[in-house]
Amino acid sequence: MKIAIVGTGYVGLVTGTCFSEMGIDVTCVDVQDTKIEKLKKGIIPIYEPGLEDMVHRNYTAGRLKFTTDLKECLDDVEVVFSAVGTPPDEDGSADLKYVLEVARTIGCNMNKYVLVVTKSTVPVGTAQKVKSAIQEELDKRNVKIEFDVASNPEFLKEGDAVDDFMKPDRVVVGVESEKAKAIMERLYKPFMMNNYRLIFTDIPSAEMIKYAANSMLATRISFMNDIANLCELVGADVNMVRKGIGA
Ligand SMILES: NC(=O)c1ccc[n+]([C@@H]2O[C@H](COP(=O)([O-])OP(=O)(O)OC[C@H]3O[C@@H](n4cnc5c(N)ncnc54)[C@H](O)[C@@H]3O)[C@@H](O)[C@H]2O)c1
Repeated sequence: MKIAIVGTGYVGLVTGTCFSEMGIDVTCVDVQDTKIEKLKKGIIPIYEPGLEDMVHRNYTAGRLKFTTDLKECLDDVEVVFSAVGTPPDEDGSADLKYVLEVARTIGCNMNKYVLVVTKSTVPVGTAQKVKSAIQEELDKRNVKIEFDVASNPEFLKEGDAVDDFMKPDRVVVGVESEKAKAIMERLYKPFMMNNYRLIFTDIPSAEMIKYAANSMLATRISFMNDIANLCELVGADVNMVRKGIGA
């Protein structure tokens, strides 16, 4: 299978490299010329245990490519992952300008079926905005081309990203067609050999799972900070309390 990953940052580079390690033909796309040129020379912009060797191996084998031109690879791929940044806007909400820019570029240039998968962390409803942006561009071109959207939020941790991706405790995929489900099943099958936790949902549920998971982690940290303060007041050992709760 041939896929493209748009946004070769932390998530995009790890995702692309790990898929190529499993034999998938991957093109990583980014708007930053210097980043792409460095990657072609084997210079990796982030440190992640195991990543550099994996990039070199798959680049040399021709399974992993780097480009700044999304248009160029669209005719060749079945799936486009969007892993661009979603920085907080002035009011704290996620800024979707990069996500929607990618969608519009796809709509302007696609000539055949493509499954567009959002991997960036985005609020519920974003996949529908992506779908509308692509459709608007197709309508402007006055062409009818089938496509699907899907949501595949990422749970990797920086510092353990390659391991988290290669041996995921779960993969969440939101789809709205059987065709998209079959493609995603084929793509993730090699990662599910030991622990089959490929969870298919509808798209809003997949988007909600990522936001809820992030909120739950933040809540647990705040809760344990309060418990630590209480422990100090009453002379309890927070580490023992933590173990007791966790068990
Ligand atoms: N870093 C993490 O640990 C982590 C974990 C889970 C989810 N996420 C989410 O994944 C998304 C990406 O995060 P990241 O840390 O990889 O971001 P990043 O800033 O490291 O990378 C984003 C990349 O997208 C590129 N880009 C922007 N617009 C583009 C366009 N139109 N075409 C091509 N490339 C474009 C940028 O140049 C940059 O290289 C965010 O939504 C983030 O919240 C991040």
